[in-house]
Amino acid sequence: MPARGAFVVLEGLDRCGKTTQLSLLRSSLSSSSPPTPVKALNFPDRTTPIGTMINSYLKTAADMSDNAIHLLFSSNRWEAAPALLETLREGTTVVCDRYAFSGVAFTAAKNNGTCGYDWCKGPDVGLPRPDLVLFLTVSESVQEKRGDYGGERYETRELQRSVRGVFDRLRADDEGERPWKVVDADRSVEEVARDIEEAVREVEERVRGENPPIAKL
Ligand code: TMP
Repeated sequence: MPARGAFVVLEGLDRCGKTTQLSLLRSSLSSSSPPTPVKALNFPDRTTPIGTMINSYLKTAADMSDNAIHLLFSSNRWEAAPALLETLREGTTVVCDRYAFSGVAFTAAKNNGTCGYDWCKGPDVGLPRPDLVLFLTVSESVQEKRGDYGGERYETRELQRSVRGVFDRLRADDEGERPWKVVDADRSVEEVARDIEEAVREVEERVRGENPPIAKL
């Protein structure tokens, strides 16, 4: 049995550069010598029937209550969880663009927190817990300068500010379990990529050496 792969999540506000960084990370891991087996995931996964409903909601083509859309985002992770576990157990490292932390941060930030923070955490309890959460921070001015900002439902300055606050709370709450690594994503793509790769290689090595069981949220 090979040692399991590491589970790494990239989180952050909209337009923090996660998607670019994830693709650079995947290429650098798979082209290293020897190559690290790696699979990239992203949430929401808009390709499934649940993901299609989420996509209509985000593009404002469909409306839904805050509770209902929150549960759909979580279901979208649960439907992916068996394959995710299998991939990790096969020894493949998984790098993932957004996860349950975005789920809590965005819903709890909406409408003055009508869906409470604890309620928001509930549906994701039991999902595989990442070995590392990389939190990319971005300033408002840089965020708003990046392409396509404002095209989807949550891309307003006011909401992004509240989301930032909930992410800070999530990070503080996780401190005892497995600290997040904060990465300043206002810097150049290359500088950010270097920090991310270093942190991922470190956790990869630890997981391959210790082969710890996959923890749960
Ligand atoms: P994306 O731009 O990374 O595809 O994410 C789409 C939006 O969905 C983004 O504004 C964050 C939000 N989101 C949630 O509200 N809940 C979730 O569980 C996830 C994964 C994303």
